[in-house]
Amino acid sequence: MKKVGILTGGGDCPGLNAVIRAAVRYAIQEGYEVTGIKNGWKGLVENDTMELSLQSVSDILPKGGTILGTSRTNIYKKEGDLKKAKENFKKMGLEALIAIGGEDTLGIAHKLYKEGFNVVGAPKTIDNDLNCTDVTFGFDTALNVATEAIDRLHTTAESHHRIMVVEVMGRHAGWIALESGIAGGADIILIPEVPIDIEDVCNIIKKRHTRGKTFSIVVVAEGAQFKEGTMVLQEEKLDAFGHVRLGGIGQRIAEEVEKRTGYETRVTVLGYVQRGGTPTAFDRVLGTRFGIKAMELVLKKDFGKMASLQGNKIVAVPLEAAVSELKTVDMELYNIAKIFFG
Ligand code: F6P
Repeated sequence: MKKVGILTGGGDCPGLNAVIRAAVRYAIQEGYEVTGIKNGWKGLVENDTMELSLQSVSDILPKGGTILGTSRTNIYKKEGDLKKAKENFKKMGLEALIAIGGEDTLGIAHKLYKEGFNVVGAPKTIDNDLNCTDVTFGFDTALNVATEAIDRLHTTAESHHRIMVVEVMGRHAGWIALESGIAGGADIILIPEVPIDIEDVCNIIKKRHTRGKTFSIVVVAEGAQFKEGTMVLQEEKLDAFGHVRLGGIGQRIAEEVEKRTGYETRVTVLGYVQRGGTPTAFDRVLGTRFGIKAMELVLKKDFGKMASLQGNKIVAVPLEAAVSELKTVDMELYNIAKIFFG
């Protein structure tokens, strides 16, 4: 029997189970056996697998996280891992592997493909920073969580006449901050793509006060930087892909704003709430479409490709192009947001 493998790598993300379910249902319908590789690339190194049957993907569509588990293992980092991964790929008897992940996971998928392995990808990340697709699944859910939080912060900010700083995720791209800021009617949105001028931020807030608005909502992306160029880090340690751990910019902004304006300021860090829990209907549908497309690429033996959303169509794009650069925010959208600053 033909066999296809599936793995999920990197940060977990709402909609992963929708992709797994879709790919498994389609694969079984087409006469394949499906091997779930546990905990991302780590499972390929350790030969840690589970069989994926119709039964194992039943009832998982609304479930957050991933039934396969995940990790940030980079098989190109530790001596010997790559060799084991390649051996296990063969030992498992996989005709092809579907890798569901963001730039790091799909970066490995692309390298393996170049080394002669049959790999395809599906684009995952709440950050929406993957190139060659209009949207990644998971983003819509994170966006809705952040928007709801901003809505809730509005009422308490207004009651207490406070400045509320909301720190959202997104790594080096400002998609979550920008879109949740627009949707939630934020008064200032700070993103990695536009260095922060703290004087400007304070002036906008003061101007609002002079027109009778005694509260303000500031949305800041975790990767935003002050004009001077320093990023605020939670720790200096790098992960297996060389990424720093971001976080803390919200606190810094709040301290500065309170010091410079004299207005009472509070911080909310949304953190992992943005990543957990049930996916929105949009992400379930998108995840389902990506899962089907990924399996279709396997059936067509169109390897080295990733399922992608372009307009309203699901198409295939080369993994190489998808991981070649980050997709940062659309500045046209930022300019729309700016009209509402203050
Ligand atoms: O890429 C998704 C993401 O949630 C980022 O927004 C965030 O910077 C990072 O992952 C956090 O990673 P970890 O799960 O390793 O703390």
